[in-house]
Amino acid sequence: MRKKIVAGNWKMHKNAEQTEDLLNELIAKIPTDTETQVIVAPTFVNLASAVAHLEFTNINVAAQNMHQAEAGAYTGEISADMLQNVGVNTVILGHSERRAIFNETDALIASKVDTALEHDMTVIFCFGEELKDRQSANHFNVVENQLKDGLFHTKESDWGNIVLAYEPVWAIGTGETASPEQAQEMHEFIREIVRKNYGKEVAEEVSILYGGSVKPENAKEIFSKADVDGGLIGGAALKADDFAAIVNAI
Ligand code: G3H
Repeated sequence: MRKKIVAGNWKMHKNAEQTEDLLNELIAKIPTDTETQVIVAPTFVNLASAVAHLEFTNINVAAQNMHQAEAGAYTGEISADMLQNVGVNTVILGHSERRAIFNETDALIASKVDTALEHDMTVIFCFGEELKDRQSANHFNVVENQLKDGLFHTKESDWGNIVLAYEPVWAIGTGETASPEQAQEMHEFIREIVRKNYGKEVAEEVSILYGGSVKPENAKEIFSKADVDGGLIGGAALKADDFAAIVNAI
């Protein structure tokens, strides 16, 4: 049975004090008996305190990015070892904002994936088409290529540490959500190409999250779809009530 996951990507929000406040609210509001894996991804500077704060809870911590090198002269960057050293073993890679704003290519993302997997970290691999791709009916090709070029070089044995996050760029932070049917259609397609490349067992086991304007109002319907195993939440992850409601919607 594959895992249900709800992950909150806090992006560049919440200073140290606000991080602590939000974590306290989440601890109070997220049921301790949920079978859903709950993850939060605060900014780098607040990761260590978040790990300490969440130590005896069922909420896990992820980083929003990392560098592919082990160490070196890379001003401003953070390595896998640094993350693991403060207790972070999950990393979001390939987010559309990293791709679009910070020019991360499939090849670069692929090398970050390799480093994370070599460190036995869990990778939440993000991908998704832009509006122009969907309008030109090219969205399946774009998604397939992002997976091929960024992820499908990995070994079958790596897939226990891989989570997929389909995020159509046109639905991120726009208030526009893929319809549950559009999400299911794409998730089914994704599972099928995973099956073609890695076999039935990997395809059945991998969790595929949907991201893009998930809110308490639409979460239940999106999560009810057969191939949607949870969500990667942006804006709504910054409010404890909303995030807890989304966790409860699974
Ligand atoms: O990482 C999360 C996604 O970018 C979704 O963001 O929920 O604000 O649309 P959003």
